[in-house]
Amino acid sequence: ATITVLNGPNLNLLGIREPGLYGNQTLADIKHRLEQKAGELNHQLNFHQNNAEHQIVELIHEAYHAHVDFIIINPAAFTHTSVAIRDALLATKIPFIEVHLSNVHARESFRQHSYFSDIAKGVICGLGATGYELALLAAHQILAERH
Ligand code: DQA
Repeated sequence: ATITVLNGPNLNLLGIREPGLYGNQTLADIKHRLEQKAGELNHQLNFHQNNAEHQIVELIHEAYHAHVDFIIINPAAFTHTSVAIRDALLATKIPFIEVHLSNVHARESFRQHSYFSDIAKGVICGLGATGYELALLAAHQILAERH
């Protein structure tokens, strides 16, 4: 199957950005590991990061037109603000898992509301880069059960 991974603003700075919260791995490290795992599971992985809300909306539309089967998304700060990205996921009906590196529930109160969690297949947070790998495994299982 085809799986798209979407990363929101500032995640291009992983590795240097607040490593106590977000870990030492760069986004390139995460991408590399995920591509490896996806290959082992026979999936095609598209990996993106963008700092602009409208570009993430466009990427979701593109995923729809490309018949992408599943999305793994870390909307980053847009988690707490973006009706537009939520609407894109609702419009395209592509099933998705929401991932956060940090445990958003242990942080500021404004991080405890997500525009995505109620429409996600599942949510993973607080497990660092491992969260992306767990999301890929879960996506694999959900897609296998679909048939
Ligand atoms: C984040 C959590 C968000 O609250 C924050 O704005 C981010 C990263 C995470 O992965 O922990 O940019 O999504």
